[in-house]
Parts: sequence; structure tokens; C-alpha cells
Amino acid sequence: MKKVGVIGAGVMGVGVAQNLAQSGFNVRLVDVNEDILIHAKREIYNNARMHQFYTRGKESFDPDEVLSRIEGDLHMDVLSDCDFIIENVTEKWEVKKDIYPALDKICPESAVFAVNTSCISITKIGGLTRRPDRILGIHFMNPVPLKSTVEAIRGAYTSQETIDCAAGILAGMGKKYILVNDMPGFVSNRVLMLTINEAIWTVQDQVAPPEDVDRIFKECFGHTSGPLETGDLIGLDTILYSLEVLYESYQDPKFRACPLLRQMVSAGKCGRKSGQGFYQY
Ligand code: NAI
Repeated sequence: MKKVGVIGAGVMGVGVAQNLAQSGFNVRLVDVNEDILIHAKREIYNNARMHQFYTRGKESFDPDEVLSRIEGDLHMDVLSDCDFIIENVTEKWEVKKDIYPALDKICPESAVFAVNTSCISITKIGGLTRRPDRILGIHFMNPVPLKSTVEAIRGAYTSQETIDCAAGILAGMGKKYILVNDMPGFVSNRVLMLTINEAIWTVQDQVAPPEDVDRIFKECFGHTSGPLETGDLIGLDTILYSLEVLYESYQDPKFRACPLLRQMVSAGKCGRKSGQGFYQY
């Protein structure tokens, strides 16, 4: 399988498309926003060059060749000849829920849909289509081309054939996977979102400034980055939407988003992608 559809050209879509193209796949990249598509291609070109630098030339890609494997488009109709689709649109149910019935009509019956989501139930997404057996979750880590392992999520009706098909694509991308069962937030974000939210509460409560909160994790616990840096990298809007999904799914107040997080997102301070979050970029 050499042609893969990627929907959403934001933080994750760019990384997924780049990783696929670097691995020799032809990619159709779809986003609703033309400026985002133009920006995505520029970013993929620059990232492919940087990737060469960071891997000290061990993996060499010609950035022009990488880019030539990616076709951008504003309409999902172009995905009609793709057998594998990786969806990376905004972490909001209202946005994701409209994608799947449309995709179900456009794509061949045999096509597999991989949902890249932080928290949303894969089983619930499967229920929007006539192919719940051919849907799974692939929770990629950010930045995608530099991370070796993903969390794969088996929905209640995901078939073994679908898991095997995704495993083949992931192997082609140079990735390992850890398979978990479907619950909102899976393993990674059920734990990580609480940590990031709680770290934001410590800033709001003036226990320590952001730099010191992160230093505790890096210098005392040996983590490579602190929770607020991680929040800025993921995108504070994505953190907020994920907490909202978890809060609603589990009906548990422990997932209530910190007011400081809401305030920052309302002000457009979404982290790295907006140039300002807990840190300036
Ligand atoms: P983002 O906000 O950077 O990008 C989302 C993109 O989706 C935007 O470019 C937007 O224009 C596009 N979009 C919205 N509606 C669309 C539609 N109907 N058709 C096509 N494109 C549409 O979000 P990000 O961070 O890339 O996240 C995408 C997904 O990946 C989310 O579900 C998120 O939870 C998940 N995720 C994010 C991670 C991160 O570190 N940011 C890590 C792992 C998963």
C-alpha cells in the first residue's frame, strides 16, 4: 500500500504526512484551510532538512523528493483512491463527527481509517460508519517523525485484520506500537492530561512560576521536559479540548480544566503553534 490519506494539516497532520513521505509513501493531505496547507508544505520541507541535521545525516532525505510525494487538497473527495486514512483534525467531537460518515461514502469499502485523537472514543467514532471493524486509533506522539512508538487503540469492534494492516503501515513509517483497549484518553492521556492540568493549577495557585514547575520534573525526576513545556508543545487548546472530553466521558471532577488554561486559550495563547504559551517562541 503506497498511497495514504492524511486529513488535517495542523501540528500532527504535518508530522504524520512528513513521516509517511520520508518513508516512501505517497500522501494526499487534506485540510479545510488553504493557508494552513501552504504553511504545512513549507514546514514539511524545513522539517525534512532539520531531520537530516538531528539524525546527523544517518537518515538522509531529499527535502524536494519528500515534498513531491505530498499532494495537498481542500476536499476529501481526493481520498477516494486511498486504502488507509489517518485523520488528524481538531480534538472536538463536533468537528470529528462530520468527517467519518463522509469518508465512509468516499473511500473504498476495504479502506481502513486510523483516528489520531488524544481522548475521543474509537468505538464511538466507529459507530458513525458502516465499517466499525475497519477503524482503530493511532495516537501518534509529537513530533511525529522523531518518536519511535505510538499508542494503538482497539475499538470494541476493531478486527485483527485492521490491527495487522495498521501495523504494516506503522512498520513502514519506522514505528513500533503498544496496543491498548478503548477508553477515553486511553492510557497516555488519561494520565498525562491530569498531570498537565495539575501543573497549571500550581501556577494559578502561585506555588511556583512555570520555569520552576518544569525544573522540578526535569532536574528532580529526570524527565526530558516538564509538564508545562509539554503542554505548550501539544497545544494548550488541544489540552483544553481533551480535558473537556475526559470530564464529560468519566463525569469525574478530577478532569475539570484549570481556569488559567481556559483563560490562556481564550486569549489565543496556545503554546508553540501560536508563538506564546507558558513560554514565548
Ligand atoms: P491542530 O489544531 O494543530 O490541527 C487541526 C487541523 O485540522 C487544522 O489545520 C484544521 O484546519 C484542520 N481541520 C479542522 N476541521 C477539518 C475538516 N473538517 N477537514 C479537514 N481538516 C480540518 O491540532 P493537532 O494538534 O494537529 O491535533 C490533531 C489531532 O491529533 C487531535 O485530535 C489531537 O487530539 C490529536 N493529537 C495531538 C497531539 C499533539 O501533540 N498536538 C498528540 C497526539 C494526538
